[in-house]
Amino acid sequence: MGKYTIKDILDPVDPKRFWLNYWGKKHLVIRRNTFKTLFKWHDFTNVLNGYPRNLNHLQILDYDGKGTKWCLDKVNKGKLKLPMLKKKEVLDLWRSGKTFVLSMAEYTKQDFVEICDELERYFERGQVNIYCSSKKDAVGFPAHCDSTENFLFHTEGKVKWTIYDNSAPERKPGKVVDEFVLEAGDLLYIPQYRYHKAESLTPRISISIHFPNKRNQSLKKFQITKKGAKREGWYNWMPENLYYDAEGSSTRDVPRKFRMGGTQWKKTYFNNLKK
Ligand SMILES: [Fe+2]
Repeated sequence: MGKYTIKDILDPVDPKRFWLNYWGKKHLVIRRNTFKTLFKWHDFTNVLNGYPRNLNHLQILDYDGKGTKWCLDKVNKGKLKLPMLKKKEVLDLWRSGKTFVLSMAEYTKQDFVEICDELERYFERGQVNIYCSSKKDAVGFPAHCDSTENFLFHTEGKVKWTIYDNSAPERKPGKVVDEFVLEAGDLLYIPQYRYHKAESLTPRISISIHFPNKRNQSLKKFQITKKGAKREGWYNWMPENLYYDAEGSSTRDVPRKFRMGGTQWKKTYFNNLKK
């Protein structure tokens, strides 16, 4: 643990400036070139191929064209009376332009764990939701607001964002105060309850890492928690001394004499196969 500091996450914006001028007040757009490999199309492919048993939290927005959200875990548990989909049906929905959400994806990548762990020093426990669309104008959410502080990391494609001038408990989005297009490497911060809307301009992946505020958190009484207090870390499960020599540096080669055609190579196995 401890790969990232808040300075790395908000780079090049000074964290102090973020807390004083933006936190809870105003959205912040950071156009840059970092964290663009957090979750790419090959990661999406790997996760989706785990469907359905090794993929617990897939949501398909507007899966029936009537605005219904299809949630794998709820269908599995019988909480949602919608049909179980075959993998090929899921693929067809993806190709037809439905937006997929991989929710509670914190432990799919080490970087997510590290970012959550750092930001959880300042906020309550976070969650990672990955929004993926295969096409321009894929159906997403209409203008809405969320009850969490939201950090949106962009890793694939272009997304048009609209930010409104008001927040919940007002019931409808008000006037548009900002519109912009974000690309891979960019970060958007949206304060909790602020109305916003995201539209895919191309196939895209945007990662929402969001956190409730700490109780009674304020600039006057600013509380910072110790690292690692809220979640278990990402561990390296590689057995020791398996692939590495005593120095742990270079991989060990099989000596030439034991390789095929070497002085100590035996043809036994091939001979057996021929019988
Ligand atoms: Fe949202």
